Amino acid sequence: MTDTAIAWDTYSRQRPERRPTNARGETTWFNWTQYADHGPGAELLEAPAGGRVLDLGCGKGGNAAHLAALGMAAVGVDVSPKQLTAARERWGQMPGLALHQADAVSFLREDRVGFAAVYSVYGAAWFTDPAVLMPAIRERLLPGGRLVFSQRPPVEGCYGCQASYIPRGADEDPLVVKRWDYEPDAWERLLKAHGYTDIDASVLAAPPGRRTIGTLIVRASARE
Ligand SMILES: C[S@@+](CC[C@H](N)C(=O)[O-])C[C@H]1O[C@@H](n2cnc3c(N)ncnc32)[C@H](O)[C@@H]1O
Repeated sequence: MTDTAIAWDTYSRQRPERRPTNARGETTWFNWTQYADHGPGAELLEAPAGGRVLDLGCGKGGNAAHLAALGMAAVGVDVSPKQLTAARERWGQMPGLALHQADAVSFLREDRVGFAAVYSVYGAAWFTDPAVLMPAIRERLLPGGRLVFSQRPPVEGCYGCQASYIPRGADEDPLVVKRWDYEPDAWERLLKAHGYTDIDASVLAAPPGRRTIGTLIVRASARE
């Protein structure tokens, strides 16, 4: 296994399952943010009924399962075997959902069928060099297809490749994965340079409460 997969397997063991139902009593739902019952839903993807959609870094699969429940052909890709095992245990019987263990860029280079939307929620779009990933996604988007991803906004002054630490035991070093942080206007310039159109990057405020870090949501289209 790669160091990246080992790191994300370690992360997977520390993360709880998605709740059985959300605040509205729904058994599947879409969440772009780090807060429960907060923010927009699947409508950001603007994907047509039955459209093929791709989740890069799908984790335990809750968002992709929701899109499959809405009738889309949802494909979830994750580099972590443990994340995929959890996704298969909970959502493996969901019609319309396909799950693959793969690195995001490798998958995009091998899968030759286009997508109406590609998205990533605190996922591979945050943890992959955008100079490599953004053109790879662009190649697989159908004309007019949407790219949407969310992640934590950058800390002021800390831009480009940053280290994310995944804790282990008290007497063990943490594992490290790389992530890429930019201000919204930098994301807009970067996506424009890779041929995307209709680009919008903005920070959604946190819900009322003690936590104040918002969610950066980036949206763009592939030219018609
Ligand atoms: C913070 S978790 C978010 C998981 C999920 N999207 C969610 O909202 O719960 C990041 C996920 O991205 C996956 N990931 C990170 N880098 C990846 C890559 N290069 N290719 C595929 N998956 C990746 C990790 O294994 C992990 O499951």
